[in-house]
Amino acid sequence: MQGALEVGTVELVIAGGKRLVGSVRAGGSKNAAIAIMAGSLLAEGDTIIENAPGARDVSAMSAVLREMGVSIRRAGPSALRVRTHRLIHHEPPYELAKTLRASSLLLGPLLARKGKASIPLPGGDSIGSRPMDLHIKGLRALGADIEVEHGYIVAKAPRLEGARVYLDFPSVGATENIMMAACLANGTSIIENAAKEPEIVDLANFLTLMGANIRGAGTDTIRVDGVDSLRGVAYSVIPDRIEAATLLAAGIITHGQVKVGSIIPTHLESVLSKFSEMGASITVGDDYVEAAMDGPIQPCDTKTLPYPGFPTDMQPQLSAVLSVASGVSVITESVFESRFFHVDELKRMGADIRLEGRSIIVEGVPGLTGARVHAGDLRTGAALILAGLAAEGETVISGAENIDRGHDDLCSKMNSLGARVKRQDSQRCVAAGEENETWVN
Ligand code: UD1
Repeated sequence: MQGALEVGTVELVIAGGKRLVGSVRAGGSKNAAIAIMAGSLLAEGDTIIENAPGARDVSAMSAVLREMGVSIRRAGPSALRVRTHRLIHHEPPYELAKTLRASSLLLGPLLARKGKASIPLPGGDSIGSRPMDLHIKGLRALGADIEVEHGYIVAKAPRLEGARVYLDFPSVGATENIMMAACLANGTSIIENAAKEPEIVDLANFLTLMGANIRGAGTDTIRVDGVDSLRGVAYSVIPDRIEAATLLAAGIITHGQVKVGSIIPTHLESVLSKFSEMGASITVGDDYVEAAMDGPIQPCDTKTLPYPGFPTDMQPQLSAVLSVASGVSVITESVFESRFFHVDELKRMGADIRLEGRSIIVEGVPGLTGARVHAGDLRTGAALILAGLAAEGETVISGAENIDRGHDDLCSKMNSLGARVKRQDSQRCVAAGEENETWVN
């Protein structure tokens, strides 16, 4: 193929049919870690970020920050030391930033700290168009002059002024960006209809420790009283609720018994209530949850919603589990317009699953069969691992490097519970320019 290029990809080979049993720990939250890394730009001193997962997106964010003059070092097995006093550039490098949608989270901190920012506009991806209008609206309200030109969001504000911002949708990224910018603004900012995700609360706790004055994070109204400066701190990231839920789902789909420790169970409430509806026995401790599945998996209807609703980041995994339920389930995706990449891949494994508008109709089948499938994005990859664990025979998942974007070796965690998942590196040919087209969640 002319203009073709070979890129390294990772395949997972899963020998299905094993019951998963045992205990495992969830790693640090990838989404919280990325937001906190962006937030660390607001301080001039050193920040230590503990419990940062070894996920590829965290490495990608480190690479973006390094190119901007920030020094980032490992400071222990799961800690990062971020030193920002030589933050020179206000423009993350295009080639790196375009592969990481979360680099848009640098907009607010750069504006607050450098008075200007220039960020590649994220494109569409496999889960929807993912616009930035709410980020831009919020930062404009704080006094930033923002233009979208030549594929970049170019923002300037010699000094941000506190303001009231109403978000038409409780966007996680927009809430984070506006909250970070407001920390160093002049006066008080109020974010209404803010996102309430635990990752927002974690970021707010981090910023507060740095000296920010934030109230209401975790509710739909966040108030930020601007301060003159923030200091570097040591902070430990919350556990990854999506990884925890995926590991529990692995126990359920294989009719096993899995205990996931080092987590905050309240972050999983909507997921656990669905797992109970599906017939799993759930035991909740102070920092762990155990799910055991005897008997058939019951079908159930679900709609994804902003937190505390059922998370969109678990929708593909839920689809996989319900594909072997004893009846029909309807899963409605209300957060992202086209997060359905997994539907056709699950079909290849024998699932009876189809799309109607933004709803997935899953007619449970007695069993899945191993097949060659493709992980076009992170959560599709997690869903295919679950399906492969339950399937008869061998499943080969290509594009598994997308799973590494969000997890620190998810396969080893599965294998510690008795799964048989093997990684193998492979090469594939793509048209030049296609190699980085998958975005992150
Ligand atoms: C974050 C998470 C992602 C999760 C999502 C929803 C990170 C790095 N990623 O993504 O894993 O799936 O929250 O829980 O934390 N929208 C607009 N205009 C905007 C911004 C968003 O219309 O300016 C729309 C999006 O297209 C989408 C919805 O709002 O339909 C939710 O997006 P948002 O909450 O912003 O998700 P992210 O922050 O990108």
